[in-house]
Amino acid sequence: MAEIIIVPTPADAAALVADHIAGQVERDPELVLGVATGSSPLPLYAALRERREAGADFSRVTAFALDEYVGLPPEHPQSYHAVIHREVTVPLGLDPARVHVPDGAVEGLETAGERYEALIEAAGGVDIQIVGIGASGHIGFNEPGSGFLSRTRVKTLVRQTRIDNARFFDSVDEVPLHCVTQGLGTIMRARHIVMLAFGSGKADIVARAFEGPVTSSVPASVLQGHPHVTAVLDEEAASSLRFADYYREAFENKPSWQGL
Ligand code: F6R
Repeated sequence: MAEIIIVPTPADAAALVADHIAGQVERDPELVLGVATGSSPLPLYAALRERREAGADFSRVTAFALDEYVGLPPEHPQSYHAVIHREVTVPLGLDPARVHVPDGAVEGLETAGERYEALIEAAGGVDIQIVGIGASGHIGFNEPGSGFLSRTRVKTLVRQTRIDNARFFDSVDEVPLHCVTQGLGTIMRARHIVMLAFGSGKADIVARAFEGPVTSSVPASVLQGHPHVTAVLDEEAASSLRFADYYREAFENKPSWQGL
């Protein structure tokens, strides 16, 4: 079962997770960090940037993005290559040579998954994986029906995801239909998975993911079987959880030595 931490605001969540990551990087400067795109992790990246300005050094961290659109050139401002470079690599001072994003080029697409898996394997796996959750219940771009053992591969985005991501494009039709995404099995191999979810729009899917049945119809529900998942939610995203009071009590009384 995931540890669910409910905090007042996204900034509080970001501070909590940024302190944890900065502490882990201090212990292991070569930590492997899994990074997500979308809106949810942005406050975290801003908080990590502040830690960097205060002296934290992320230059030897290796990073793996969860996914990439198929067919957008890396220089397209909404390709995840470009987003990760802009939001993560530059502000956090990562070494671009250690930052990896799946290859969404149409040419060679049939091997993009296995090439990405090999890179993750060679890095020794992901230590801390940041994920958001989509309205469809996806993590990465593993839409409903994704296999729990799936590895990095090409997926087709559901209409709702394309509508949700149209805010980054001029219209929904410009949002690519296909992506290359880490599989649920890939994500589940990360040693620690941290989910960030904020706002009332996430309340229903968060409750289904963590308190509903484990089913590939809600791909994020696979996380219920992972030994170390931390979901950090604001009050709104937590508002449909049946056991919210229990999660609060557990966190308030958590021994400090346990960390995140
Ligand atoms: C992004 C990703 C997606 C997003 C999800 C939530 O790399 O893999 O799963 O995390 O769609 O997006 P936001 O945070 O924009 O609500």
